[in-house]
Amino acid sequence: MSQELKKIKIINGPNLNMLGKREPEIYGSVTLDQINSDLDKKAKPLGIDLGFFQSNHEGAIVDKIHEFFNENIKGVIINPGALTHTSVALRDALLLLSCPIVEIHLSNIYKRESFRHKSMLADIATGQVCGFGHYGYQMALNAIANRINES
Ligand code: DQA
Repeated sequence: MSQELKKIKIINGPNLNMLGKREPEIYGSVTLDQINSDLDKKAKPLGIDLGFFQSNHEGAIVDKIHEFFNENIKGVIINPGALTHTSVALRDALLLLSCPIVEIHLSNIYKRESFRHKSMLADIATGQVCGFGHYGYQMALNAIANRINES
């Protein structure tokens, strides 16, 4: 009997469309397309159907999260970029969801400028992965898949 694939959404915020070109000494040389296609390959054997969204606009990300509210979403992996440190609107939108949420950052935000040490999401996320570059997205996917299978 075929099992229904579980839906997980991957959201990337401002400037993450420039991965590969953007400060490669901090964020690496892998592009967002490469990250997403690697994740897609990993997802199917885990019984997961991934959806990808990137925007440079806070409101567009909030609107997208509102769409998730009416779907049967099993998890969200989000790298909010700079919105991590500023966005109450993003925090409030994520609070609408009852599924596991993993906050991810390529860089270790706690080793960087002090304004990056504060995350508006850290205390509402299920967990946080940071400092492992593009590999962190795969860690987040494994973690969320594990959480879903346990529940
Ligand atoms: C980031 C860290 C943020 O501080 C920064 O604004 C980003 C990327 C990361 O993935 O390391 O845009 O979220």
